[in-house]
Amino acid sequence: MAAASAGIMADSIGPAPGLVSPLATPEEEAQVAAASAEDRAIRPKSLADYIGQEDVKRELDIALRAARMRGEPLDHVLIYGPPGLGKTTLSSIIAHELSVQFHATSGPAIEKKGDAAALLTSLSPKDILFIDEIHRLSPVIEEFLYPAMEDYKIDIMIGEGPSARSVPLSLKPFTMIGATTHAGKLTSPLRARFGIILQLQFYTPQELELIVKRDAEKLAVPIDNAGAAEIAARARGTPRIAIRLLKRVRDYAQVVGTGTITEEIASECLQMHRIDADGCDERDRGYLRCIINDFNGGPVGIDSLAASLGDERDTLENVVEPYLIQQGLVQRTAAGRVASRKAYGKFGAEWPGREG
Ligand code: ADE
Repeated sequence: MAAASAGIMADSIGPAPGLVSPLATPEEEAQVAAASAEDRAIRPKSLADYIGQEDVKRELDIALRAARMRGEPLDHVLIYGPPGLGKTTLSSIIAHELSVQFHATSGPAIEKKGDAAALLTSLSPKDILFIDEIHRLSPVIEEFLYPAMEDYKIDIMIGEGPSARSVPLSLKPFTMIGATTHAGKLTSPLRARFGIILQLQFYTPQELELIVKRDAEKLAVPIDNAGAAEIAARARGTPRIAIRLLKRVRDYAQVVGTGTITEEIASECLQMHRIDADGCDERDRGYLRCIINDFNGGPVGIDSLAASLGDERDTLENVVEPYLIQQGLVQRTAAGRVASRKAYGKFGAEWPGREG
């Protein structure tokens, strides 16, 4: 095949590891957990401050107003979508809008029924219990949560051995917000217990530009419109990446430029980090090159692709592919992954002319 023989070459310099990965770095995770001063300053606190996701905001706004009018807790909410789009941010906004406490945990962190009981009994009326990666709850914990969600009741075990007995315990009415990258991974009984189901979409470059400008202002970094647009265009539709790029470009502007982020400064900096005009990094390009060079453009099964790249299937499916699919660079078909004409064009390779 033309493209294969053309031998799309790997970039000669190594990748910038993870700068455009939508997954939170350990530092970003810590920021979320500890809510550092800078993070607190940057994060939007109200729905009005939250940019984009217009459909989600409209639905949520109605539900929040209705719950407030009735003086009831908000229905349980499931938020799903690719990583880095603001599931945690939106959840903390919900708590803020309702003037209640926000308690955050994650599916894998709740190991025992006792952990879940401790969390649930610590809630005040109408508080938010946010469970990130809710698809990773163990089946035992999941079942334990059903009556908590439905009737605000749990059964706890008192004592041990033959004298152990189960005692029902009433909870304060609360709202659970579950977040996941994959709503399809939830069991149907769990999904059925969420009254409000919200899907987050990738942000448009215009929305990301607004987020970059807003955050630059909060960080007191001078930036012009073209500089913000340049960062937004390469942030793969993901605010977490836009903010991370903003911080790197801020450093670059300070050291190499005058401190102001311009289009030229942003472009130079992102080129240095090997993030191309589409927001793809070396891992994305490696993924596309693998389909084109090693599998004749596809279709190739995800497991073969993962083995060939030495990457986890889960990472490819949840982290790498969503943006490449949204960009029309790759298609998921029943037969496997197929590189699009646009993907060939990206490398200046000849399109073999097969329909995806
Ligand atoms: N920071 C991260 N996500 C945001 C959003 N959607 N709106 C405003 N600021 C943000």
